[in-house]
Amino acid sequence: MEPIGRKDFGEDFHWGVSVSAYQIEGGWNSDGKGPSIWDAFVRKPGKVYHRETGDIACDFYHRYLEDIRLLKDLHIPCFRFSFSWPRLIPRGRGETNPKGVDFYHQVIDACLAMGIEPWVTLYHWDLPLALEEAYGGWTNRQILDDFLRYVEFCAQEYGKKVKYWMVMNEPLAFTALGYLLGIHAPGKRGFKNFMPAVHHVALAQAEGIRLLKQALPKGVVGTTFSTSPTFPYRERNLNDLAAARRYDAVLNRLFVEPLLGRGYPVDALPSLKEVFQRYAQKGDEERLIARPDFLGIQNYTREVIKHHGLVPWIKGRPIPPKRRKVPHQAMGWEVYPESLFLALRQFAQYDPTLPLIVTENGYAAEGETTHDPERIAYLSQAIKQVHKAQQAGVLVKGYFVWTFMDNFEWAEGYRPQFGIVYVERRTLERKPKESAYWYRDFLAGKVTIE
Ligand code: NOJ
Repeated sequence: MEPIGRKDFGEDFHWGVSVSAYQIEGGWNSDGKGPSIWDAFVRKPGKVYHRETGDIACDFYHRYLEDIRLLKDLHIPCFRFSFSWPRLIPRGRGETNPKGVDFYHQVIDACLAMGIEPWVTLYHWDLPLALEEAYGGWTNRQILDDFLRYVEFCAQEYGKKVKYWMVMNEPLAFTALGYLLGIHAPGKRGFKNFMPAVHHVALAQAEGIRLLKQALPKGVVGTTFSTSPTFPYRERNLNDLAAARRYDAVLNRLFVEPLLGRGYPVDALPSLKEVFQRYAQKGDEERLIARPDFLGIQNYTREVIKHHGLVPWIKGRPIPPKRRKVPHQAMGWEVYPESLFLALRQFAQYDPTLPLIVTENGYAAEGETTHDPERIAYLSQAIKQVHKAQQAGVLVKGYFVWTFMDNFEWAEGYRPQFGIVYVERRTLERKPKESAYWYRDFLAGKVTIE
């Protein structure tokens, strides 16, 4: 095969890096910011690796200028970051925080002044704690009003400067980890929390897209999804095949299908009907639907599923890469770049005319500084999969590396390092890794992928 270079993806292809507010900003209680559910969660013993927190994180709140200059030096065209809702509206509703509002103006202005396109995510998991305390956050339908007012505020405040918007970041990840399994904030468990959270997030996702599109006719509005193509552990075992299909319904289909007018994936998981019976109101089926300008695809790996009758509801479980004796990275995820192609192809089936953007993809290491050949190998193979998808007719229009710099990886603390820039934890000094220079050279057309 011919080597692949940047130009093979087309002139209008968006290249970038992604980050999120809580994972990099720090300044957790600076200048009027309110606490988020993550500020509370990290203070509970046993929740985060080594009791680490995002209190300081990478201190992007104070160092954003230096960081955006580094983006520029590396010639990275697009920067995806998120707004912290409690930095803008400290109690989640009501009064706004002028210094927080100003902060994001400065970040956006710095990007624009340096020729970097800002891509803004509105919800990357840091719910204002006040809303969790007042009514249980996403488990309560009241959240819709507060969320939409927040979205409206952002559109009015920043709509003239920001063209690219994403409403949600990985709805399945934060509802499953935070409301079913209790391993992310707010630490709730069980279907009684998960089911209503799913429904309210799915509604907020569609309503948020509609609102932004109406408020910003020139904006480009999308939302993002975690994806993990599923495989049966034993290829021809009917039970494993059925379990893989149920996992697919949860991991890949649960939020995108209602958005695109197909309803929840009840064909694979009939019990999802309950969500409707219990939590929906008249007209919700329609309210769940919106027409985004793009879908954000986030992919890191695949899952291999074995039937397991004792696991409630889903009756199966993923077999970890260690047991399958295949390579894995520092999150314990199988190194399987092909999964990006499979995810793109799967999501393209819904509507081949709806552009897909890879809003996250990356590689976690542990104990590394700036020498990161494994990341370069992974990223180049993954980018090759994006090209393969284009060749297969998939309308994929962008690729963002997760992540710009080593940061707070939620319950895993600072142990897994996903950055193309190393951050020395003690001094917070930034040092581009070899992968950052590799990405720069790839974007400059100086290196190609074999
Ligand atoms: C998905 C999330 O959006 C991001 O916050 C996280 O750090 C990466 N995946 C890696 O786990």
